[in-house]
Amino acid sequence: MAVKKKDSYFVTTLPGDGIGPEIMSATVKVCQAVAAKQGFKIEFKEALIGGAALDACNDPFPDETLKQMKSSDSVLLAAIGGPKWDANPRDKRPETGLLKMRKSLGLFANLRPATVLPQLADASTLKPEVVSGVDIMVVRELTGDVYFGEPKGITTKDGERFGYNNMCYKESEVKRIAKVAFDIARKRGKRVCSVDKANVLDVSQLWRDVVIETHKDYPDVELSHMYVDNAAMQLIRNPKQFDVMVTGNIFGDILSDEASMLVGSLGMLPSASVGDPSGPGVFEPIHGSAPDIAGTDKANPLATILSAAMMFRYDLDRPEAAQAIEDAVNKVLDDGVRTGDLGGKVGCKQMGEEVCKRI
Ligand SMILES: NC(=O)c1ccc[n+]([C@@H]2O[C@H](COP(=O)([O-])OP(=O)(O)OC[C@H]3O[C@@H](n4cnc5c(N)ncnc54)[C@H](O)[C@@H]3O)[C@@H](O)[C@H]2O)c1
Repeated sequence: MAVKKKDSYFVTTLPGDGIGPEIMSATVKVCQAVAAKQGFKIEFKEALIGGAALDACNDPFPDETLKQMKSSDSVLLAAIGGPKWDANPRDKRPETGLLKMRKSLGLFANLRPATVLPQLADASTLKPEVVSGVDIMVVRELTGDVYFGEPKGITTKDGERFGYNNMCYKESEVKRIAKVAFDIARKRGKRVCSVDKANVLDVSQLWRDVVIETHKDYPDVELSHMYVDNAAMQLIRNPKQFDVMVTGNIFGDILSDEASMLVGSLGMLPSASVGDPSGPGVFEPIHGSAPDIAGTDKANPLATILSAAMMFRYDLDRPEAAQAIEDAVNKVLDDGVRTGDLGGKVGCKQMGEEVCKRI
């Protein structure tokens, strides 16, 4: 929790690129509606990240953005990236801004719920009887692993090009993410499945050993282990077996996207990136900037709106505001209101307004 419940909040918004500005605008209106209804104030101020920041100041994560984020109670991020910047050198790519943001704010834990709402059980490509009732929280480590390990690069070896990265974890990094997973499991189904590749990778063996040691402080939580290849299969075969899954950065990146497809659309899935409890978390949909539909009012804003609900719950000490948003989203779906990705015809702006009406 970044702050204790108060009467007035300051939140940084990072609309980013592609559909980002459209889904952010709908989400800000929903937050303002819930604040007005529940009698508190919330002020939003935009800052630059990703391609928008590259265009404005040739830096995907400008210092001013970091400064403003640090002075905020919380941060809402829409999405970054797009073909315009894909050919840029790595330090001038939008995604580099995202990694820099996570590292600078110490956001080491990414929480991605995959909950199948009964109204959308038939939106999944899997059979409704397999997915209905699925309620998984994927806890992904976010600031370590092969994405950040050194040394890395592309060089020449034995007369040909040679690319390399380094998969590594410190004991303390594994311990803190394991604690997050066990703490969350205590508030849910009290079961944690730790995913690794300990049969092959030394770094995974350390991961498994540290998770087992950390578990000693959580005797009320059941711990199991699964190899990542099996986990990928089990998520499709029988997803209801999982409560909390905890895993490293690269395995989590892939498995959480897989888990998202249980739900049917990327447009429904929120996430939270949290770390140092004295600083703000960053709340964002799991999808990208969807350049193929940017500017057409076709984007589904619900993942961002549900991310705002997570912000109220995890950062702003306003669980009743979170509940009001989640209830309104449920009512919208009950009433059959659907954007294109869910098989409907409602636009992004109208979807936001429909949620506001039900707050
Ligand atoms: N955290 C982030 O900001 C983030 C995450 C993933 C990808 N990206 C970036 O986004 C860009 C596009 O990547 P991509 O196409 O692989 O993934 P994407 O998530 O942007 O899009 C994948 C597909 O899902 C659809 N989609 C995504 N969100 C939607 C929504 N809210 N409503 C309706 N449809 C939606 C898109 O139209 C597209 O067909 C790339 O530059 C990538 O690097 C950013």
